[in-house]
Order: sequence, then structure tokens, then C-alpha cells
Amino acid sequence: MNNPKRYTVTTALPYANGPIHIGHLAGVYVPADIYVRYLRRKGADVIMIGGSDEHGIPITIRARKEDTTPQKIVDRYHELIKETMMNLGISFDFYARTSSPVHHRNSAEFFLDLYNKGKFIEEISEQYYDPEAKEFLADRYIIGECPVCHNENAYGDQCENCGSSLSPNELINPHSALSGAKPILKTTKNWYLPLNEYEDFLKEWILEGHKNDWKSNVYGQVKSWIDDGLKPRAMTRDLNWGVKVPLPEAEGKVLYVWFDAPIGYISATQEWAEASGKDWKPYWQDENTKLVHFIGKDNIVFHCIIFPCMLKAHGDYILPDNVPANEFMNLENDKISTSRNWAVWAHEYLEEFPGQQDVLRYVLTANLPENKDNNFTWTDFQTKNNSELVGILGNFINRVMVLTEKYFDGVVPEKTIAFEELNQLKDFPKNIAHYLEKYEFRNALHEYMNLARLGNQFLQIQEPWKKQDQPEEVKGIMYAAVQIAAMLAQLSEPFLPFTAEKLCKMFDMKLKNWNELETSAEILPALHRFNKSELVFSKIEDKTIEAQIQKLQNTKTKNNMTNPNAEPQKSEITFEDFTKIDMRIGTILEAVKVENADKLLKMKVDTGIDVRTIVSGIAQSFATEELIGKQVTVLVNLAPRKIRGIESQGMLLLTDKEDGKLSFLVPEEKTANGSMIS
Ligand code: MF3
Ligand code: ZN
Repeated sequence: MNNPKRYTVTTALPYANGPIHIGHLAGVYVPADIYVRYLRRKGADVIMIGGSDEHGIPITIRARKEDTTPQKIVDRYHELIKETMMNLGISFDFYARTSSPVHHRNSAEFFLDLYNKGKFIEEISEQYYDPEAKEFLADRYIIGECPVCHNENAYGDQCENCGSSLSPNELINPHSALSGAKPILKTTKNWYLPLNEYEDFLKEWILEGHKNDWKSNVYGQVKSWIDDGLKPRAMTRDLNWGVKVPLPEAEGKVLYVWFDAPIGYISATQEWAEASGKDWKPYWQDENTKLVHFIGKDNIVFHCIIFPCMLKAHGDYILPDNVPANEFMNLENDKISTSRNWAVWAHEYLEEFPGQQDVLRYVLTANLPENKDNNFTWTDFQTKNNSELVGILGNFINRVMVLTEKYFDGVVPEKTIAFEELNQLKDFPKNIAHYLEKYEFRNALHEYMNLARLGNQFLQIQEPWKKQDQPEEVKGIMYAAVQIAAMLAQLSEPFLPFTAEKLCKMFDMKLKNWNELETSAEILPALHRFNKSELVFSKIEDKTIEAQIQKLQNTKTKNNMTNPNAEPQKSEITFEDFTKIDMRIGTILEAVKVENADKLLKMKVDTGIDVRTIVSGIAQSFATEELIGKQVTVLVNLAPRKIRGIESQGMLLLTDKEDGKLSFLVPEEKTANGSMIS
């Protein structure tokens, strides 16, 4: 759509069942934010809509796992996600939640509207049912043995052990996750949207109408869904968490989460309009509005087929102009996984890299999985920061600041030379805009960095520091360098908003309208005075990166542990280290309580080489009488330590049992005191 009157930009509503990670950011929020910030700079009428998806099975599963209510789960994660997004500079106009009363009302009304227009078909089907819990079971709630790998805990939709996608009837010995009962089939009535009736509409609208402007990954998925033949899809479910189906005969049923969630975009717009005194309708109902959905590839069918069919069935709404879905971001060559904790969590990043939001935004943008899955690695993160942000962008800005301070007291000199670079300057906002309009964010960022490269080259070739005897020349060079630096500051904002703010402060400059940048010959005039310079980017050290890699390594170790509660392994020792340890079999001869100490016993122990006193914190696990004559293992060459004034001359070896009591490590058979452990 050329020259739209306004833009409605939506971002997939993340399930509020866990924190967000770099995959969410790269897939949806970072590119959407760049796009919207750019549009705002053009002076466009644009809203960016987001929020939490608080219904659906993922939420109830999480609540069960944590033994709490779905409401508690969504309250917790909604707040966390919202705050994380804000701290990353994702500039939503409204961040809503689908549990809001506005949304419940709005999505129920939407359903009723389609119902009254006769857009649904009613179908009776057989669904799995838990006869003990008296509830219908979503596939996820049926557990049994995987027919492929024989994992005993496979879900009715998928085996997480071997990754096979399953249906509940394939499970061996299926049982309900709610009560353990064997699920039975029970008939139930639900309301279906006959997607098959929308085939012609979809073919004309997408397959013909958007052949050239939609991304090939999106177009291809839509085409294969249509080619496979569309079927009616249930828009209501037998569940008790969600938006209640507004029909008297639908007791115990809620709207399908993929019915209510995208309507959440509309509800959010209504809430935004209410809060800002605007009218929401044009943003969803005026043909001159450009509606764009930013999503990840697993959401394509819902945003390109199901939701548009709903909008079409309703009749009052516009359809998306584009759905620039991204592929997935992997982490260190492995699929990001919440259940395996294989992720870089955005809120943890913010804590561990304070003030470095733009570094993450930069690295993710440079690696956006626009056409195929891509990979985030910590070493690449370090390289991109150190050699691109610090080495190219930061370096150029810093040189311009320092040289201007040194030669001209921080005041922009006159333009004495018409360098070709000054003419080239306005191509950059044009080229970047061209890429952004096509949702090619990586190319846009690359073009941006080309300007920083151009700046460095310019200084390198002109070498003002060697021209101190040609003051007019130095003025001209520095004037041009300042314009490049100022243009860099101006153009940084959609990608690096925190940096843009710092740079504007340093240059004592305001952000300009993007269209103005495309035509202006000068960003900062002669005689303009800079503020003090500050460091914009700083090097990330090896040890910082190693710590992140170690953190992931620990996750890997933990994932492979048969006992996930076990402490991780301590750092490696050599065989020589081990041989220093002298452990012997001994026998307890006497044991008495240490006064005023609940846990301590004082013992006499025959170690075979001597009889010595040992104090040990075992009083809550053993009665003194049962200890006499007991064989134990003693660390004999531990330096003596004073415990409650008593010198303890060694240590008894024990381990924790699951009941919290201690247990001795002893030889299987009676062994001579003084025998060595080796
Ligand atoms: N919660 C979904 C997911 O994480 C996305 C919902 S997008 C919406 O995959 F359109 F339904 F809101
Ligand atoms: Zn399996």
C-alpha cells in the first residue's frame, strides 16, 4: 500500500507463561520496534500494539507445574515481560493483556457477531475426557508411553524426548495428567469456522494479491496450507480458562485461544484510544490504514489464514497489508527451548549487561532470521560489539568529538570544502528507508554501518592531524566529518535508541524528521557547540563472554543430569591433588553431646594410627549409643580445627539422605582400622 493514511503495527502477544528470550526479540519485537520508530520519525500516524496472551493451554500447564492458579501465573509474567520490553526500549503505544475486561467483552462480542451472522457451523465430536476430574482433556493433558522412543512421559501432542509429533490415540497406556485416570471419549458440541469456504477469498487476496510483496517464507506456508485443503476449525473449546463462550448452551466452554488472542490487538487499540482520547475505529476499519503483523514463523497460519477469515466473516475490518514473519533464532547452534532452559533470557541480559540494551539490539538485528533460521553465539556477540560498535561506529564518533574539541573547542567549523561525501550523505536515510519499507532490517542496519565505515575512511584519507599548517583545509575536513557523525546519530535511533539519546546529548541536537534528513545538506551548522563527549560503546572482555558460555554449559550439564537436584561438579583436580588426601577406616569408641550445641557430637575415634578426638555435626541424625563401635571413614590429614573450643583432629565422611538425615560412608565388610581409601 502506497501512502497509507495511518499504520497499525501489531506484535505477536507472547504467552504470559514465562519470561521472554532473544528468540522473541529477534523474531518479533526488535524488528517491529525499528519499523515503528522509523515511521514515527517520518511523522506517520502509527500505533504499535502489544500485550500478553493470557489464555490457552500453555498457561494452565505452567500453573499446574508450579502448583498455582493460571491467574497467578499470568499476573507474574505479564508484569515481568512488560517491564523487560520497556527496559529494552521496545516502544509500544499500548501493552495490553487478554485477561482485561475490555478484551473479554470485545472478543465475546466478536464471537456473537459471527454467530448471529450464521458464520459458524456446529459440530458434535468425540473428545478425550477425564471421568474422574470430570473435565475434557487437551492433548497436552494426556500422558503416556511414546510409540517411537518409549519415553513413559510423552504428551498427547508431542514426545519431548524424541521430538515426535503425536496424537493422543497413538500413546501407549494413556492417562490423564489431572487425575491419572484413563481418558475416555465423550461427545461434545463446538462451533467451527468453515475455513474451506474461504479458499477463494484467500487465493485471490494472498496467492494472487500478495505474490510479490509478501516474504517467500510466509507466502510459501500459506500456499501449502491452501493446497492441502482447508478444513473447518473449532473456535470454541471445552476448557475452563479463557473467554467464556457467550451462549447459554455453552456452559464450560471458552473461546479457542487463537480466536481470542488476535482480537486482543483490537481490544488493545480500544484501550489505547480510550486512554489517549482517540478513536480506535480508523486503525482497524479504514481502508487507508496499513495493518502490519510482526510475528514468528509458528504464527503464520493464524495471522494469514484464521484471523483474516474471522475479519472477513465479520466484514467491518481491514486485512493485513503484510505479515513479515521471521524464522527462528537458535542459540549456540541449538534450538532455543524454555523447558530445557536453553535461552538467553532478556531480563537476565538486562541485569548482567546494564546499560547495554543497544548491544543486544544491534547483534540481534545484524543476525535477524529474516529468510532462514539464524544463530546467536556469545563469541559473535562479543565480536560484533568490539569490532563493529566499538571499532567502527564508536571509534568514528569518538574521533570526531575529540578532534573537534581539540581543534575548535567543540564548535562546528565552517564549510570550506565541498567534499563529495557531503553529497552522498542524504543517500543513507533514503537507502535505509527503502530497506525498512521492505522489512529488510539486516540490510538497513548494514547500510547504516556503511555510513560509519565511510566516516572512518574519510578521516583516514584526509588525515586532518597531518594538516596543522593548512587551517582552512582542516576546517573543511572536520565540518564534513561532523555532518557524517551527526547523520549517524540521527539515523541510529530506530536501531539503537539509547545510543541515539546519548549522541544527541553529546552533539546538543534534536532528532529530525526522517524526510528532512533525506533532503538536508547540513545537519549541524557552523558555530554549533557540542556538549562534553562521553563513551558510547565499550569493549566486552573475554571473561564476560566466558561467564555466559559457562552459564550455558551449566544448563547443558543440568539437562543431562539423572538427578537434577544434585550439586554441579566442582572444578577439576589433578591426580596429585587427590593423592594428598589421606582417608582411613576407623571405629568410634566414645560419643558425647557438646554442651549448648544441638548438632555437635564429640567423639573418640580409633583410626588405626592413633586414637583421636573428632567433633562432628551429626547429633540430629544419630543417637550417641548407636554410634559406639561403628566403623566410619575418616579424613585424617585435615588440619586440626577448633570447634566450640574443642580441637577436632579430622573429619568423618557422610552423605545426605533424601529424608534430610545423614548416613556414614563405610566399607561393605568389617575392615581393619587404619586401612587406606585409595
Ligand atoms: N501467544 C502466541 C505465541 O506465543 C502468539 C499470539 S499472537 C496473537 O505463539 F495474535 F494471537 F495475539
Ligand atoms: Zn519419543
